[in-house]
Amino acid sequence: MANQIPTYTLNDGTSLPAIGFGTVPMKGEEAVTAIRSALEAGYRLLDTAVNYGNEKEVGEAVRQSGVPREEILVTTKIPGREHGYEEAKASVRGSLERLGLDHIDLHLIHWPNPSVGKYAETWRALVELREEGLVRSIGVSNFTAEHLARIIDETGVAPSVNQIELHPYFPQAQMREVDAGHGVRTESWSPLGKRQAPFTERPVAGAAERYDVTPAQVILRWQVQLGAIPIPKSATPERQRQNIDVFGFELTDDEVAAITGLGRADGRLFGGDPDSHEEM
Ligand SMILES: NC(=O)c1ccc[n+]([C@@H]2O[C@H](COP(=O)([O-])OP(=O)(O)OC[C@H]3O[C@@H](n4cnc5c(N)ncnc54)[C@H](OP(=O)(O)O)[C@@H]3O)[C@@H](O)[C@H]2O)c1
Repeated sequence: MANQIPTYTLNDGTSLPAIGFGTVPMKGEEAVTAIRSALEAGYRLLDTAVNYGNEKEVGEAVRQSGVPREEILVTTKIPGREHGYEEAKASVRGSLERLGLDHIDLHLIHWPNPSVGKYAETWRALVELREEGLVRSIGVSNFTAEHLARIIDETGVAPSVNQIELHPYFPQAQMREVDAGHGVRTESWSPLGKRQAPFTERPVAGAAERYDVTPAQVILRWQVQLGAIPIPKSATPERQRQNIDVFGFELTDDEVAAITGLGRADGRLFGGDPDSHEEM
């Protein structure tokens, strides 16, 4: 069993574990089985979205797991096509229904979709839903400094988290600083680097050898030491266990810096950037 997973207290007083579990692109029985096994391995933070088409499976796995509901934190996200004040409220109700839950622990705006121009009113709706208790904590994903500043200016409410692409080839130093400046916790999507995971890069492979852990564990430990919350996905029970077992060793500052040094201009997995990309 992995060492105890530490938790962070967010700016709204709720807390999140230092590592969560990603669910894309799993669906159907594969998703239910993998999420149940992740809960068994000790994960307590689950990441889904309307766009992943697996909210139903996430709810099912939570119910089947036998883990008390209050111990599990379910994240879901409002898609671009459901931006707007009324649309956002309907989106949250739809997610609650598919999940089969009476509240959502963390609800995010999936992408800012700036050309649609409705992310600020979408945020206003989330602020109200939190006051009503339907969602416990509210945050954003793929927001830039400008998007964050606008919603904070307009509502006086800072998101609890900003979930962004973050891995060794794209370490997001600037955005992590912006988030921290607003008291926003950074969450890392594709934390291993997905299809281009830098497992054989020297700073990663070298540390893996020194600490007798796997390259994936080194990368996830690096994420933890940056203060970001990684949400690795794995369909494999053995890898799921490995990926949360990262609290029994510590990288030196030089090792952390060497991994961050793998960052490169074309390191983004995703071709566009949040300013030009619109996710529907
Ligand atoms: N907010 C957003 O816009 C956004 C965008 C993308 C993703 N996300 C979220 O972030 C989550 C994680 O991102 P991701 O799934 O794109 O990428 P990831 O977690 O970086 O990588 C997942 C891949 O790594 C493999 N893997 C996992 N653990 C491993 C290990 N210990 N050793 C070797 N390979 C390993 C998995 O294969 P196996 O399953 O075969 O183990 C899978 O192919 C998603 O599931 C989703 O919830 C959010």
